[in-house]
Amino acid sequence: MTINDLFHRSDFLIIGHRGAAGLAPENTMDSFRLAIELGCPLLELDVQRIYSEDGTPRLVVFHDDTVDRTTNAKGLIAGFSVEALNKVRCTNDLPIPMLEDVIGLLAEHPNVGLNIELKSKETAGLIAQTIQANPHIPVLISSFHHDELAQFRQLDNATPVAPLFARWREDINDIATNLDASAINIAATSVSAMRMQILLESKLPVFAYTVNAPSKAEKLRQLGLRGIFTDRPDKFDLYLLN
Ligand code: G3P
Ligand code: MG
Repeated sequence: MTINDLFHRSDFLIIGHRGAAGLAPENTMDSFRLAIELGCPLLELDVQRIYSEDGTPRLVVFHDDTVDRTTNAKGLIAGFSVEALNKVRCTNDLPIPMLEDVIGLLAEHPNVGLNIELKSKETAGLIAQTIQANPHIPVLISSFHHDELAQFRQLDNATPVAPLFARWREDINDIATNLDASAINIAATSVSAMRMQILLESKLPVFAYTVNAPSKAEKLRQLGLRGIFTDRPDKFDLYLLN
């Protein structure tokens, strides 16, 4: 199964934001397992680059710049080695997963895809290598760092990508075209009926984050959006896999 198959499997895609971040600690294995159990066809997570003590770069699944909000430690995530981070615990007492851990879980669930958001810079090379080593996982690569996606495109011209937009700008479709993107991911707060008319000209599916109210999701669906990122997949059983 590819990401494009997945896009066509449902007319409205429920994407588990950081797993099921409203129901379990975000970006932890508990959160990803729960999102899969609930029937999300696609899981979103954030990755950043850190180093092992021997200098090997690795991708860690983590959203913030610091570990303060979501763990029992303090400090910049980039200041931790893989080994030091292994000792840190999230609020559910689980360690912070590495990307390989989630890929391992997805290998057991061939109907579920992964939207990997490149949260930090200098991740394009590592993610291209990871995808090459795991060709069986349906992956969508997204980022607010469009230059990072462009670099990724130089290394991998086949894996689907989606530029992310926190705010409206007039050149969204051009950016998506230049990246040969498969989707446009945008903040729900930046979407209006008029703007959707412009985005639909791209012919690409548009997904909005982060939507936890079914009534809001329904309005977006009527405007032509093809799915949402949600912390609460349990509220959207109509659109989930069964
Ligand atoms: O990829 C959608 C969404 O995750 C982008 O915002 O801050 O939750 O990573 P953020
Ligand atoms: Mg994200």
